[in-house]
Formats: sequence, C-alpha cells, structure tokens
Amino acid sequence: MRLTDKVALVTGASRGIGQAIALALAREGADVALNCSTSVKAAEEVAQEIKKLGQRAMVVQADVADKAAVDEMVKKVVAEFGRIDILVNNAGMSVVGASSELEEERWRRGIDVMLTGVFFCSQAAGKEMIKRRSGKIINIASVNGIGAFPERACYGSAKAGVIQLTRTLGCEWAKYNINVNAIAPGYIKTRLVTYLLAKGAYDEKELANRTPAGRLGECEEVADATVFLASEESKYIVGQTIVVDGGWSAYMYLESWLEKSDL
Ligand SMILES: NC(=O)c1ccc[n+]([C@@H]2O[C@H](COP(=O)([O-])OP(=O)(O)OC[C@H]3O[C@@H](n4cnc5c(N)ncnc54)[C@H](OP(=O)(O)O)[C@@H]3O)[C@@H](O)[C@H]2O)c1
Repeated sequence: MRLTDKVALVTGASRGIGQAIALALAREGADVALNCSTSVKAAEEVAQEIKKLGQRAMVVQADVADKAAVDEMVKKVVAEFGRIDILVNNAGMSVVGASSELEEERWRRGIDVMLTGVFFCSQAAGKEMIKRRSGKIINIASVNGIGAFPERACYGSAKAGVIQLTRTLGCEWAKYNINVNAIAPGYIKTRLVTYLLAKGAYDEKELANRTPAGRLGECEEVADATVFLASEESKYIVGQTIVVDGGWSAYMYLESWLEKSDL
C-alpha cells in the first residue's frame, strides 16, 4: 500500500470521479474525509464503503466557494484526523450555454466553485501542510482548460485558471515539500455523462471515434493518476498537469483523412 497512515481530504467525494478517488486512496491505506455541499447521504454511503476497507472516514459538508465554511471544514478534519497529508480539489459543476446569453449569476457561481473554491481549499489545507513541511495537493482540472470547447466559456476559463493556479502554488510551496499538481480528464463515464449519453446529448460512438484510445475514460483511471500524484513516487513533480484523456487533446487529425492516406 502506497498511502499507509496518510490523511486525505477529497472535495466533491459523494459521487463520480471524487467517489472513485476517495475509494482508491482508501485502498492504498489512507483515511479519508469526504466533502460535498448537499449530497450528504451519498457521501455517508461512500464513507461506509471506506470503513469496510478498514480505513477511517468522515463526511464534511461545505460549499467550497464559501471561505468560512472551507476554513471550518479543514479545522474539523485536523481536529478529527490530526492533519491533512493529501488534498484533492475535485468538486465541480457543469456550466454550459451560449456565451452571448450566459447569465452573470451562472458565470460567477462557476468561477466561485471551480476556481476560487480550489484556491480557498488549497489555502486552508496548505497552511496546515506548510506547518508540517509536507503535503500533496491534486487539482482536478479538465481538457476544457487546455483546448476550446464552445459554449463552455465559464467552465473552460475556470479549469484553465486551475491549471495556472497549480503551477503557481506548485512553485510557491515546493520549498515546503508540498507537491501541487493537477489532472486534466477528458470524457469520463460518470453518472452525469452516462445520463447525457442516454438522453442523446452526447453520441458515445462519435466521442469514442474522436478519442485515439477508442473509448471514454473510467473514473478509476482518473483515480489511478491521483494515487500516483498523492504517493511518494511523485515527489519531484511540481506544478504539472497530467492529461488523462485517452489521447483526445493530442489528436489533431480528421477521421476522413485516414481514407486518403495514400494521397
Ligand atoms: N465527468 C467528466 O467527464 C469530467 C471531465 C473532465 C473534468 N471533470 C472534473 O472532475 C470533477 C468531478 O466531476 P464529476 O463528473 O465526477 O462530477 P459530479 O458527478 O457532478 O460530482 C460533483 C461533486 O462535486 C460536489 N460539489 C459540487 N459543487 C460543490 C460545492 N460548491 N462544494 C462542495 N462540493 C461540491 C458534488 O456534491 P454536491 O452535489 O453535494 O454538491 C459532487 O460530489 C469536476 O471538477 C469536473 O469538472 C469531469
């Protein structure tokens, strides 16, 4: 086990990628504090699964966009588990809509949760890590923060901000033996993506064809990269973003050109 005796705080851990990350960290021997803003019952169920693995688990409800609530959350985790070795900033939401029409409220909320929230959580947990001269912070960004996806101006800007925040905090806190890195997932088969596929909002075949790996990603594949960044094996990696997208962002070709490859 790579994370024996470590304490992790995972934001947005009640479902999807955050749930998979929390379970993967626990399987590697970490005790886990699970954050969510409203879905406490679902988070409690994840906590039960972690306890069955023999690790300690607690649920800490807080809106990551609320600085006072975040400070309180970190206090509670430190009071209960003694410290925070690993922070995973995973909480996120979807903000989709034509940029010409996107309401101020939705723009502000998206940036508050997905960028400012990452800063608040990193700041509060970072202070604890600086005292102990040790820590790992892993931010869940997105390929939307690397390349342009129309009608996702808020989401993409927040995620691009997270990638830059990762570089800045990584360079600022490396001297305290704190590694700050990020993961940029591509299309991952979460409940939401599965629902959108079923509704016909996404075409799975089309997404798979656009992906060199030929399929969508699994939550566990994002969790695997998170465990690596949370482990000692990542100790010389600072301020980087690992892209977990089956090659989506590396691919710049057109499917139809393959048929003309003899020209
Ligand atoms: N799914 C993908 O294909 C994909 C691709 C690239 C990046 N990502 C990123 O990966 C992360 C997880 O995505 P997901 O698809 O697993 O999301 P999800 O299924 O929608 O889950 C989001 C989680 O974040 C929590 N959350 C939302 N707002 C919060 C807030 N203000 N404070 C605290 N917790 C909050 C939710 O709990 P509550 O309901 O209780 O608030 C839930 O636990 C996100 O940052 C997302 O942007 C996802």
